[in-house]
Amino acid sequence: MCGIVGIVGQEPVAARLVDALRRLEYRGYDSAGVATIHEGKLDRRRAEGKLFNLEKKLDGEQLPGLIGIAHTRWATHGVPNEANAHPHFVDGVAVVHNGIIENFSELKDELIADGAVFTSQTDTEVVAHLLAKYTREGLGHREAMLAMLNRVSGAYALVVMFEDDPGTILSARFGPPLAIGHGKGEMFLGSDAIALSPFTNEITYLVDGDVAIINHKGLEVMDYQGKPVTRKSQISQATAFMVDKGNHRHFMEKEIYEQPEIISHALGHYVDFASHTVKPTDKAIDFSKLSGLAISACGTAYLAGLVGKYWFERYARLPVEIDVASEFRYRELPLSPTQAALFISQSGETADTLASLRYSKDQGLKIGAIVNVRESTIARESDAIFPILAGPEIGVASTKAFTCQLAVLASLSIAAGRARGTVSEAEEKAMVKHLAEMPRIMSKVLNDIQPQIETLSRDLSRFKDVLYLGRGTSYPLAMEGALKLKEISYIHAEGYAAGELKHGPIALIDEHMPVIVIAPYDRFFEKTVSNMQEVAARGGKIIFITDEKGAAASKLETMATITLPNVDEIIAPMIFSLPIQLLAYHTAVFMGTDVDQPRNLAKSVTVE
Ligand code: AGP
Repeated sequence: MCGIVGIVGQEPVAARLVDALRRLEYRGYDSAGVATIHEGKLDRRRAEGKLFNLEKKLDGEQLPGLIGIAHTRWATHGVPNEANAHPHFVDGVAVVHNGIIENFSELKDELIADGAVFTSQTDTEVVAHLLAKYTREGLGHREAMLAMLNRVSGAYALVVMFEDDPGTILSARFGPPLAIGHGKGEMFLGSDAIALSPFTNEITYLVDGDVAIINHKGLEVMDYQGKPVTRKSQISQATAFMVDKGNHRHFMEKEIYEQPEIISHALGHYVDFASHTVKPTDKAIDFSKLSGLAISACGTAYLAGLVGKYWFERYARLPVEIDVASEFRYRELPLSPTQAALFISQSGETADTLASLRYSKDQGLKIGAIVNVRESTIARESDAIFPILAGPEIGVASTKAFTCQLAVLASLSIAAGRARGTVSEAEEKAMVKHLAEMPRIMSKVLNDIQPQIETLSRDLSRFKDVLYLGRGTSYPLAMEGALKLKEISYIHAEGYAAGELKHGPIALIDEHMPVIVIAPYDRFFEKTVSNMQEVAARGGKIIFITDEKGAAASKLETMATITLPNVDEIIAPMIFSLPIQLLAYHTAVFMGTDVDQPRNLAKSVTVE
């Protein structure tokens, strides 16, 4: 993920900005830059690679100024070089950005037709050109900012300076976080409180849809229509050396809400957002030559693999053998070197998964690791590493790692389909476009469903047993929803294939056991509605998680209906993960359990 810092200061800012960027290095980056305004002039230094290279440039050529913005870039659009490094300048406007401007191609074409000259391959540059255009047309800085924000779409944190206003920094947040720091006569902003901790611990966290203006007078917040908004500051406990909960009560809540930013970062490693194509994958595994795949993992990682099975089989026509690692390692599964084996593990240290990897390696298979920790044992013993880039996941219940695992599996199944000629170029473009829209949709869903879920969780916390149902890729989601609920609220929950209801679980149905049905309006929808009717006919209480089309189509009485946007099936599992994560989280909060460290559980099970 990119890192952002800004200071409206009373003393020179360049060195302090670079120091603050250093505290954001954990987010990963491949270039960096800083810009200041001094004596009415914008100036900048940018460098490829690590901050050391930027500091060398600053040592060689000082950058005076009491106001500045700085950025560490993790390339999504355009190679990691100096020309693509932020801040981007256009006619006296300076911009840094974290996230994705989804509609940048059409905006870029429009701006070029209008005479704009682009100097980078980035999506960010369209923001600078739009602001320059609007100010040329006579709009004030605030109006230009609002006009730009009402044109761009995507998930982004944007920070802007105008050369002719050396006392103000403007910013906007929709997805990736932004924190405002209140100093003594100075104001700060950054991607998180850790970056600002040496300057101040009085922090205001922006929320999606906020436009923030900082100057020597302090902070002003408004919405995209320019209506003032009140945001309270708080004292942050963050220090430069701890992972910060931000304005969340638990790490799990923070990790649920940072998924839009995290997943756009993870996707940037696997897809090209400009051409809507998948990037070449690690050559150690050549999907075009495989006779099949074996997948093994534990817990949530296994359920991600189960979703992946549907995708590899459907899009790449690759038969997939999958099992939980504790079974896989002892089955003496007959495997062939014409298969490859994928092992999914957030920690990269899970004993059963590692044992299954070693079994498969002994059978002569090429090994792929889908991991969050590149230096982990599972990664080290693999031929190909597919990082999920989710950043540290502190909550024991896996959330952002799960959706990032899904994003990687979706990208790999498209890449495998392209390599095997079972996915056309047009299908690839369409699916990658849907993946690119995901961060924005996730941000919207998290904001829209939170109040309803919180209320519903209060009811759910009264029950002792819960059944989750789903079909297709919603079946592993049903099991993941049950796993999330049971592991943090201690309520017994089971996830079942909806089609299996009649084969046993229907005996359980009565008013004492809510049935949570996960059903986007896909090719299984009608069949799942029949299952819901079987539940309703026996007095069962239904919590229906569907999309707009599904909500309109089903006439059934429910305990609650959570309506998500209509989305393509390649991103439905990631989008439908959000309500099941939030439902488990808020239920556990009502139950008063230790959400981040549930009883008896460890974050990584490194023993059998
Ligand atoms: C998921 O919420 C649990 N914390 C657990 O099932 C976890 O997914 C499992 O232990 C696998 O861990 P890993 O991804 O680090 O291998």
